Amino acid sequence: MKLADAQRIDEECLFTLYTRTPLMVTRGEGMYVWDDEERRYLDFCSGGRAVNALGHCHPRVTAAIREQAGLLIHSSNDYYTEPQAKLARLLTSHCACPRVFLCNSGGEANEAAIKLARKHGKRDNVARVEVVTALKSFHGRTFAAMTATGQPKYQQGFDPLVPGFSHVPYNDLAAMDDAVSDRTCAVMLEPVLGESGVYPATPEYLAGVRRLCDERGAVLILDEVQTGLGRTGTLFAYQQYGIEPDILTLSKALGGGTPVGAMLAKETVASAFQRGDHATTFGGSALVAAAAYAAISTIIEEDLPAKAAAIGAYLRDGLAALRARHALVTDFRVMGCMAAVDLGAPVAAEVKNRAQDAGLLILTVGDGMLRLLPALICTPAQVDDALAILDRILEAIPTAALA
Ligand SMILES: Cc1ncc(COP(=O)(O)O)c(C=O)c1O
Repeated sequence: MKLADAQRIDEECLFTLYTRTPLMVTRGEGMYVWDDEERRYLDFCSGGRAVNALGHCHPRVTAAIREQAGLLIHSSNDYYTEPQAKLARLLTSHCACPRVFLCNSGGEANEAAIKLARKHGKRDNVARVEVVTALKSFHGRTFAAMTATGQPKYQQGFDPLVPGFSHVPYNDLAAMDDAVSDRTCAVMLEPVLGESGVYPATPEYLAGVRRLCDERGAVLILDEVQTGLGRTGTLFAYQQYGIEPDILTLSKALGGGTPVGAMLAKETVASAFQRGDHATTFGGSALVAAAAYAAISTIIEEDLPAKAAAIGAYLRDGLAALRARHALVTDFRVMGCMAAVDLGAPVAAEVKNRAQDAGLLILTVGDGMLRLLPALICTPAQVDDALAILDRILEAIPTAALA
């Protein structure tokens, strides 16, 4: 099948929901993907949205999937399976939360987190039901996760939304102080605002929010769906802030490319869920659990968080040089393998399209920002290649764009 065939079927059969790039990806290996014409692209999106932290088709993940597919693909949560048990032990032994619920996506993990926080908030006959989240956050498209998301564009047309949510400016402790009351069951935050442009929390902010939650009896949910499992330079971003969440959500990198999500919690909070309170048919299914176990083991054993930190430092130097050479680059932010580049004109789509033509895949945020999310296995030479392409493109974009 060629791109044109897939485009026709897409138009005729699929919901019109995605703004697709005219590119049909047929295979991937490491930092590269190939299209239907056998053209190669350097993937600085990790499979689109920060998913393939180990690059495409990592041999350990592929081997685990192959082996598990020949043994058992799925059996329900009515039974025990070895892949799920191994994954649960591995995940909980490496983070601050000793209990895990396995599901299928980031949105679903956040949905579970919100349900757990509500259930916990109603213990002791106290009605703590409200959830405070940040403006410009992104938590997913399911109903509660969409309501939690602090961007009205994702909510328009879907009201009435889930009651009990409020949004405050990010990195503004005074606003959080005003918003958290004795009716608040949870504060839910990304340690780094990812989707809206890689804005890390300040250490004072996260420490202050942690303190407010403790003082007022609310739980702190950290949404590490994008930042988790090494992307920011530590296994979990919260480890760079000297605090621990009560509830932690993960997805993206977790399954090595397969759809897995996880909601983890401290024992005192987790115990609010009783048998039957929550469930999902496919959560922790044998095939994806085996893939996730292989992915996380690789991330830990190969110390990929440290490699992500080193690549981030290299990328930061490269972006500083790019900014020095091009007036169009007005600012940039880097945290491990997460980076955003602010452009002084609405040319992000133009840069992205030209990059694709030159064999580099990147993301945009709005009209004026580029987002780079290379896999944790990215090398300095691949950073050089990506920045050389961006350098040529920025050189070619007429400075009139800046006017
Ligand atoms: C921080 C964060 N939370 C939640 C989600 C939603 O994850 P999913 O698309 O798997 O539902 C995303 C997706 O981009 C995300 O970046």
